[in-house]
Amino acid sequence: MAVAARIAQLRAEIERHNHAYYVLDAPAVPDAEYDKLFRELQALETQHPELLTPDSPTQRVGGKVLDGFAPVKHAVPMLSIRTETDTDASGAFNFDVRVKNALGAVDEIEYACELKFDGLAINLRYERGVLKQAATRGDGETGEDVTQNVRTIHCIPLHLKDCIADVLEVRGEVYMSRRDFNRYNEKQRELGLQTLVNPRNGAAGSIRQLDPALAAKRPLSFYAYGLGEVQGWALPATHSAILDALQSFGLPVCADRAVVRGAEALAEFHRRIAAKRDALPFDIDGVVYKVNSLAQQLELGFVTREPRWAVAHKFPAEEQLTILRDIDIQVGRTGKLTPVAKLEPVFVGGTTVSNATLHNEDETRRKDVRIGDTVIVRRAGDVIPEVVGVVLEKRPTNVGEPFDLFKRLDGHCPVCGSAIVREEGEADWRCSGGLFCPAQRKQALLHFAGRRAMDIEGLGDKLVEQLVDGDIVHTPADLYTLSMSALADLERMGEKSALNLLDAIEKSRRTTLARFVYALGIRNVGEATAKDLARHFGRLERLMQADEAALQQVPDVGPIVAQSLRAFFSEPHNLEVVDALRRHGVEWDEHDGVSDQVLPLTGKTFVLTGTLASMSRDEAKSRLEALGAKVAGSVSKKTDCVVAGAEAGSKLDKAHELNVPVWDEAALLERLKEWETI
Ligand code: IVH
Repeated sequence: MAVAARIAQLRAEIERHNHAYYVLDAPAVPDAEYDKLFRELQALETQHPELLTPDSPTQRVGGKVLDGFAPVKHAVPMLSIRTETDTDASGAFNFDVRVKNALGAVDEIEYACELKFDGLAINLRYERGVLKQAATRGDGETGEDVTQNVRTIHCIPLHLKDCIADVLEVRGEVYMSRRDFNRYNEKQRELGLQTLVNPRNGAAGSIRQLDPALAAKRPLSFYAYGLGEVQGWALPATHSAILDALQSFGLPVCADRAVVRGAEALAEFHRRIAAKRDALPFDIDGVVYKVNSLAQQLELGFVTREPRWAVAHKFPAEEQLTILRDIDIQVGRTGKLTPVAKLEPVFVGGTTVSNATLHNEDETRRKDVRIGDTVIVRRAGDVIPEVVGVVLEKRPTNVGEPFDLFKRLDGHCPVCGSAIVREEGEADWRCSGGLFCPAQRKQALLHFAGRRAMDIEGLGDKLVEQLVDGDIVHTPADLYTLSMSALADLERMGEKSALNLLDAIEKSRRTTLARFVYALGIRNVGEATAKDLARHFGRLERLMQADEAALQQVPDVGPIVAQSLRAFFSEPHNLEVVDALRRHGVEWDEHDGVSDQVLPLTGKTFVLTGTLASMSRDEAKSRLEALGAKVAGSVSKKTDCVVAGAEAGSKLDKAHELNVPVWDEAALLERLKEWETI
């Protein structure tokens, strides 16, 4: 084959794989295969530089460092849209009333509903299908030329499929997914470098980065939501048809969109998206409604540079400013000392927040958070609220000193007075008091009694507090010696609740090795690791006697976990507690250990969604895990199977989108029956 033809073939194939990977999130070939094609193309282009074109997939990275960004005058101004700040349904109704009045309409209006992505608006200019220029919004009239950086965004096609319009300007939002944001920040933290405040700043900062190689390191994504200048392409009649066309050209268009009629349907879209907001892989700050008919859009026109045919309808903000009143230090289960911000209460992410984590000393210093500062508090989804940054312009003159955890505590645990230590290479200070420290003891007991550990119902915060402070319970083993008379004196403890508690403690005696190991609260040993250990060793004795090498035979157990286990089982106090628990009748079935390779579902990842009629989700999870499967919380390219019960929601949609096999409950039961007998 002629070189030029092979190059064209390779480019087409690589682009197909890029699209499958970055836009459809469903890779078509293994990475190694992709790399092979990519290297062959690179080699041919090096040998034949005359055949290299700027839209080759090899040309995404590698531009030179810029002095600044050249101005770009937009052919069609980039406008913004009006925002409805009412986060209840009235935002949708008000918009619909305005549209109907302006159109003098009697019938329900058709609307296109989309997400309001929280990133940075970008104009992509394609000429005859090839990406020529990318520009920021700027002041709406003139933006900045950020072509080099935008080329590094893999989901943005360098040329379009089946579109040879003379000019097609595509508008949309560049954003950073939560996963990419978290990964990036984790890496930065490991390197002791500055972290990003939020995904939006991450996106904006990378796009305005003058060194494209640095920009390429920050993973960005893009969703198209509209058009700028168009020449040589006959527009469809509706906005939704434009989005469908953009998608068919290979551009990423978010699947969470809908065409609806009337105000009630707009409000319903708002509610539906609000309910799944936390589960989305990226941040949004609301939804956008657009009149779907382009003819009606034209009729509606603009008021003061805002289209009358579109509106943004917000959700409650996930970030707010507030004042940092004080910094407390909390002692965790393993003695970890966490600085906690005491805030002027503020309404954020749907609740009032007055405490937020500062993570650790280094983070607090890196952000230069000081008492008296105005700070940015973030509460996204179910995640613990955190302080993500300081507004330095608002720093008062009498602001506190830079944070110094050791100095603040005078070197002693605020609860038990033991010395605090910070080991080499560790981010956290810890109280060295171990189970002598009441704070650690309380946390350890709560963990021990937790639903996924020994499952002692009714042993909550308040009770544990009284049991520890009253010197009634010192170790988890003491729980099994509690009597009615010891409980009777406690506050808010009636005879009935005391009986219930004793009954729950009694029931917890019969458990599994996995739960028991997890309940011990060994550092770095979570639920999944405890299960792996129990499965591998089968007997507690064997686990307790295993050396680090033997421990590392267990899948996913590395040197750190192995060391934590050794440290725990070398401590005489811990051995005493384990022994006492067994003496008090805590028991489980033992076996000779299972080699992990022989289980029927080893290496397979399952996701459970919806409600199962014949068993709880926890039971389904344990049964799958007992067969060697991992059970994950969200669907991804790596998921092998989704089990969908009644009323399965977005996870099921995602499974269909990614072509992940889906079983219903009947299929699950049948397979379980088959495998559990092996
Ligand atoms: S349409 C003329 N659609 O929100 C209409 N904008 O003021 C132009 N945004 O910064 C905007 N998601 O970048 C539109 N689905 C969406 C959007 C969206 C996010 C941003 C846009 C701009 C602001 C609108």
